[in-house]
Amino acid sequence: MAWDPGQYLKFEEERTQPARDLLARVPTVRPARVADLGCGPGNSTALLAARWPAAEVEGVDLDERMLAEARARDPRTRWVRADVRNWRPAQPVDVLFSNATLQWLPDHAALWPALLAQVAPEGVLAVQMPRNYADPTHRLMAEIAAAGPWAARLAERARTVPVHPPAFYYDLLAPRVRRVELWETQYLHVLPGPDDVVEWVKGTGLRPYLAPLDEPERATFLARYRAAIAAAYPPQPDGRVLFPFRRLFVIAHK
Ligand SMILES: C[S@@+](CC[C@H](N)C(=O)[O-])C[C@H]1O[C@@H](n2cnc3c(N)ncnc32)[C@H](O)[C@@H]1O
Repeated sequence: MAWDPGQYLKFEEERTQPARDLLARVPTVRPARVADLGCGPGNSTALLAARWPAAEVEGVDLDERMLAEARARDPRTRWVRADVRNWRPAQPVDVLFSNATLQWLPDHAALWPALLAQVAPEGVLAVQMPRNYADPTHRLMAEIAAAGPWAARLAERARTVPVHPPAFYYDLLAPRVRRVELWETQYLHVLPGPDDVVEWVKGTGLRPYLAPLDEPERATFLARYRAAIAAAYPPQPDGRVLFPFRRLFVIAHK
């Protein structure tokens, strides 16, 4: 299921802010090697390259269109097409960073230790993932999927959420590293209107629901979803919408 960098980057500023906040808490190490897993169009990787200009920075992603956008923006960074689950760097990296990607991958109990194994001694694994799956954005897409003529097809495609509560990551990582830091932030993004909430998730969480539908079905699904979102995210007196978005941050210090 291909990604659309244009759709994703409609909210570039808001989507990159958690990467900035995560990076701000990564200690002042002088890494020789840095990798950004699920680099997408390179927005998060650019922060890493700017912070550590002397480091070897590698952006890793599976999606060709995302990598093409990343390459066009920064031809100097090493862009690698690989599945995060099988990615093995030539040498362990000092900073292994991943913003808004690991929530797309299953079996975190196996995935996280495998990623940690790619981090050099004294290095860090720094990850941010959304934890908003009980919010109206996600609840409503699941309800509309289950209620329409597409229910059987979407039941197969609908994604189970692999992101666990914070304590799961603490218990998984604490025996393996010196120190674990965790925190959650609920952003309140100010969007021009309720349709922008729909535009936001069209770039991410709605993709698995829309991909199996034909064009007329997609239009019907979107019309129902837009109406439901407008009711769930009423505008402020100035017409804008506050879009709450909770995210989990984890830094494991090896
Ligand atoms: C939501 S974007 C995050 C982009 C960027 N890191 C940011 O901070 O905005 C998620 C990215 O993860 C990539 N991705 C998802 N599953 C992947 C996998 N198994 N291996 C590599 N990349 C993957 C997608 O192609 C997409 O570009």
